[in-house]
Amino acid sequence: MSQHLAYRPDAALKIFSTDGIEKLAPQIEDARREMLDDVKLLAGPPSAIPQAKQPLDAGFQELPRLLLEEYGAKKSASLVGRILEAADVFRSQVDRMVLLGIGGSYMGLRALFEALCHPYHNELDRESRHGAPRLYYEGNNVDSDALLGLQELLALKCRNPDELAQRWGIVVISKSGGTLETAAAFRVFRKQLEDYYGPDSKLSRELVIPVTGDTGKLSDLTNRWQYPRRFPIPDGVGGRFSVLTAVGLLPAAILGIDILQLLHGAADMTEYFKHQPYGKNPVLDYVAVSHVAERDHGLNIRLLSTWGKRLEALGLWYDQLLAESIGKEERGATPLTIVNTRDLHSRGQQHQEGTRDKLITNIIVEQTNSTPVPLPKVADDRDQDQLNKLGGKDYADVMTAAIQGTNQAYADVSRPTADILLPHLDPYSVGELLQMLMLSTVLEGRLIGINPYGQPGVEAYKKNMTAILNR
Ligand code: PA5
Repeated sequence: MSQHLAYRPDAALKIFSTDGIEKLAPQIEDARREMLDDVKLLAGPPSAIPQAKQPLDAGFQELPRLLLEEYGAKKSASLVGRILEAADVFRSQVDRMVLLGIGGSYMGLRALFEALCHPYHNELDRESRHGAPRLYYEGNNVDSDALLGLQELLALKCRNPDELAQRWGIVVISKSGGTLETAAAFRVFRKQLEDYYGPDSKLSRELVIPVTGDTGKLSDLTNRWQYPRRFPIPDGVGGRFSVLTAVGLLPAAILGIDILQLLHGAADMTEYFKHQPYGKNPVLDYVAVSHVAERDHGLNIRLLSTWGKRLEALGLWYDQLLAESIGKEERGATPLTIVNTRDLHSRGQQHQEGTRDKLITNIIVEQTNSTPVPLPKVADDRDQDQLNKLGGKDYADVMTAAIQGTNQAYADVSRPTADILLPHLDPYSVGELLQMLMLSTVLEGRLIGINPYGQPGVEAYKKNMTAILNR
C-alpha cells in the first residue's frame, strides 16, 4: 500500500497560525474516533443507533475494502464480480447508454467519466472506445426540450435494433426509487425503448438495468417487469456517498473504467485515515486547515480549484457532497468548483482582490497521461505571436508555470492556498481522492456537531412540487 495522493497546506499555514491547527488535534482525534465507532454502531442492531445519529450512513467508510475482500474470496459470485459480468454483457449489447439519475445517483459517475474516459468519448467510433457505449444523462432535470433532444437523437441514430451500432439501453439509478425527475424520465425512455425493441421482447427487459434499494417504487417496477439484472444500493450508504457502490461502479465498468483500482485507492485512503497521525493524514489535515480557515479567519467559501479540464465534474460532485452534508442548521461553508486556467479569466480577479472569504484548495495532477503536446516552432517570419521564445516548452510546462504563478500571486497578497497532489489521473488516484473527500466531509460534520448524513432540507421543495402538481 503506497499513498499516491498528498495534501500540502504549506502556503496556507504561512498565513494561519499553526498554533490554531495544533490545538485542534484533540477535537479532530475525537471526531475520527466517533467515525470509527459509527461503523461499529451501524453493524449492530438498528435500535442501538441513537436518535441524534439518525440517519447514519457510515457504510461507505469500509465498503471498498469489504467489496475487494468479497471479490477476492468469491470472484464471479461476489457483487463486484456480478457488476463486472453484467457490465461486459451490456457493453456487448448496446452502443449507447442512457443513464437516468439525479444528485448522488449520477454525479459520481459523471466525475469518473470525465476524469478517466477519453475527453471526446462519445465522438469516437466503437473500436476507439474499446467497445464501451456512448453515454447520455437524463432524469437529472425536468427540461422538456433537453429530454426531447435525446429522444430525437436516439430515434435518428437507432433505426434497426438488429444492428449493435444502433442499439441503446438504460441504466436507471435511484436509491429511494421515488425521485420524480428520475421516475418521469424512466417512464418516458422505457416507453421509447419498448416501442423500439417490442413491448414484450427479451431485449426490452435485458437492456434495462435498475440500481436501487430493496424497497420503493423503482424496486416495485423492477419486480413487475422482471428485469433480469438489478443491483442494490446498500442500506447505510447515503446517495452522495454511493459512488463506490453499484451506483458508480456499474456504469463505470460499462465504460471500461478499472473499478478494482478505484476500490483499491479508496480502501487504502480509509486505512491512511484510520492510522496516519495528525500532520501526515490527508483527511485529518484537510479538515483542520479548512475548519481553522473558517472559524478563525472567516473564510467560509471553499474554492476547489481544479487544474486542467478533467476534474470539473469531480468538483461538482464535491460541491454537492459538502453542501448537502454540512449546509444545515444555518451553518456550513459554501463550496465552489473552479476550473483553471479557464476561470482565471472569469473569477481570478475576485480571488486575487475581492472579499477575503475564500480558502483555495488546488487539485493538481502532476503528470499528464500522454506525452505533453509541444509548442511547435515556426520560421522567424511567421513568429508574429512571438511564441518561438518559448521554444522547447510543452503544455505541461505551461500548466506548471500557471499553477506556480497563480499560487505565488495569491501568496504575495496573503490569500491562503493548499494543494492536493495526484501523481496521475488514474483510477487508483481518483479512488483515493473520492474517498478522501467523503471521509473529510463526515469528519468535519462530526467535528462541528452537524449530522453529515441525510438531506432534510431538500424535502421541502419535493413536497411543494408534488402538492402543486396534484392541484
Ligand atoms: O445525497 C443524496 O441523498 C441526494 O443527492 C440523492 O442522491 C438524490 O436526491 C437522488 O436520490 P435518489 O437516489 O433516491 O433518487
